[in-house]
Amino acid sequence: MNRRTPIYEGKAKQLFEGPEPGTLIQHFKDDATAFNNAKKGVINGKGVINNRISEYIMLRLQEIGIPTHFIRTLNMREQLVKAVEIVPLEVIVRNVAAGSFSTRFGVEEGAQLPYPIIEFCLKNDKLGDPIVAPEIVIAFQWAQPNELEDITSMALRINDFLSGLFLGVGIKLVDFKIEFGRFYEGNTVQIILADEISPDCCRLWDIKTGEKMDKDRFRRDLGKVEEAYREVAHRLGVLPGNEVKEEVKKIAKTRKKGK
Ligand code: TMP
Repeated sequence: MNRRTPIYEGKAKQLFEGPEPGTLIQHFKDDATAFNNAKKGVINGKGVINNRISEYIMLRLQEIGIPTHFIRTLNMREQLVKAVEIVPLEVIVRNVAAGSFSTRFGVEEGAQLPYPIIEFCLKNDKLGDPIVAPEIVIAFQWAQPNELEDITSMALRINDFLSGLFLGVGIKLVDFKIEFGRFYEGNTVQIILADEISPDCCRLWDIKTGEKMDKDRFRRDLGKVEEAYREVAHRLGVLPGNEVKEEVKKIAKTRKKGK
């Protein structure tokens, strides 16, 4: 068996050294956490589905000229990505009030916002990823002013494009969180989209029924979590036959045996 060098382990993903310099292997786990690790669980088959969904979205975004870290899918749970220096910001784009926005401002969940709203949060679990004003980001040099401009314009383009993409399959893109990284090549540095885009980091509501099709089903104990993730993949046309279902069944069986 090949031993791989682990680089970083996050809550839902793991990074290993890639086969060539400047690359990493991004591995999608089934682990799910919420409320800064206070709630922990497993969503069977999530890693397989998120790998597919994220691949699909990154490829579509590349087609409209958004630079991303995605290189290619390696297997059911892993993709090869460009190694970047992560900008320590969680960039949230909101179209409809929900979640912490509704709580903070007392706005009813589901209220349409007059225009997309961007919030920056400092990526720091110990501090609970606090919201941070652009002025503070720049003062502490977490990002340079030109980088923040690139991030903002890319985030808005991504939002427009993904809103349409999801609308086309009967899903409302309520909000999402993305991350960016600095990609160094020769003596140039470019801000590119990193991490993942999947139901773990988006709020996705069925247009007709308003049914939640994202990680809120896990956060709020709404049940049918796996089914919701699978439905999103199915609507995007990225469930390759029964391949994923079989993988999910296999994992569930192994877990039962292990208990
Ligand atoms: P919030 O309403 O809880 O602030 O979440 C806004 C969006 O960001 C929502 O789509 C979920 C996503 N998100 C993450 O991906 N990771 C996180 O740690 C948090 C808090 C939110």
